[in-house]
Amino acid sequence: MAENKLKVLIIYYTQSGNTQQIAKRIAAGAASAGAEVTVTRLKRASYEMLADYDLIGLGSPVWKADTPNLHAFIDKLPDQNGKHCFAFNTHGTLPHLYFPIVIPNLKNHGFLPIGYKGWYGDVNMPGMPKPYYTMGHPDRQDLAEAEAFGAEMVENSRRIAAGERELIYPDPEMNDKVFEQAMICSNMLLCPTNPQGAFLRDPEKCRYPKCHVCMDNCMMDYIDLSKTPPVFGNRGDRCDDCHECAYCFMICPFGAIYPEDPEQFERDKGHRHLNFEVMLDRDEAEGTFRRYIPADQVGFDTPYVFWHPQRPYLKVPKEDD
Ligand SMILES: Cc1cc2nc3c(=O)[nH]c(=O)nc-3n(C[C@H](O)[C@H](O)[C@H](O)COP(=O)(O)O)c2cc1C
Ligand code: SF4
Ligand code: SF4
Repeated sequence: MAENKLKVLIIYYTQSGNTQQIAKRIAAGAASAGAEVTVTRLKRASYEMLADYDLIGLGSPVWKADTPNLHAFIDKLPDQNGKHCFAFNTHGTLPHLYFPIVIPNLKNHGFLPIGYKGWYGDVNMPGMPKPYYTMGHPDRQDLAEAEAFGAEMVENSRRIAAGERELIYPDPEMNDKVFEQAMICSNMLLCPTNPQGAFLRDPEKCRYPKCHVCMDNCMMDYIDLSKTPPVFGNRGDRCDDCHECAYCFMICPFGAIYPEDPEQFERDKGHRHLNFEVMLDRDEAEGTFRRYIPADQVGFDTPYVFWHPQRPYLKVPKEDD
């Protein structure tokens, strides 16, 4: 009798498309290993869906650790009774806090995390240098690794179910890199508001209801322009959410979303991130980072919004991209 196909559900969040590319290649790898695979964006995932699958993949960009929407999704998960899962991410220069936070969180909700892996990705934040240190990622090698990881997770899930528990990845190490990054991130983690300042909406420039891009893509569901008065951001008339998100500002096609402080990104010009550089040098020396932008060609004098002044600054990736 033919063996039942392992059913895999891959749930991901993405803003600039890196995690989506990786998610799709993990899915291709899982399918090549004989699984039946479904890929879905986080906003379309439901807890009920999980019951239909044997193996769940969860992925997002690294924002200190996971993203707040993925974190909230995991926090409210019903008990998974030992169901197999794996975690993945894409990241810029500070990746090491993610798995030490996400893996225990998944375990707390009854998942058995069997593996995890992250990949470098380009970074598109309004005040960050462009070209960024990690531009060029994910590259072909990253995508090939993602495919191999997808196949490995399917194969391992079958074998772990058959008793080979030694294939479960060890818990993420709490090593010097994790503590070092926690130190660097600590001021950001403790900041109660957005370190980039608040973002506001200009009703004169806004084309709602013809346009609703920000409403459709705010990860926190903070925007509802159909209300009277319209709701925008965590304060109702502005967003200063602490997670350093600027997505609506980046994706508004009409320049209707603006930083409260007009000089905000001017001040980022010429700013070098020396702590990032030390880490990347080390990761490069250890062979875990492939560099495409030489250190002296990183765009310190051209933060993203000066390097790419056209609106929208960033396009929302389509699901079939
Ligand atoms: C708000 C925000 C916070 C971020 N924080 C981190 C971080 O703490 N560490 C890191 O390595 N990368 C960080 N990044 C970079 C992203 O993790 C990286 O660009 C990722 O590949 C983006 O994935 P996406 O294209 O799927 O959105 C951050 C990006 C944004 C927009
Ligand atoms: S994306 Fe810009 S134009 Fe579109 S609804 Fe939002 S604020 Fe208005
Ligand atoms: S910055 Fe914009 S997209 Fe990001 S959480 Fe705030 S309102 Fe939502």
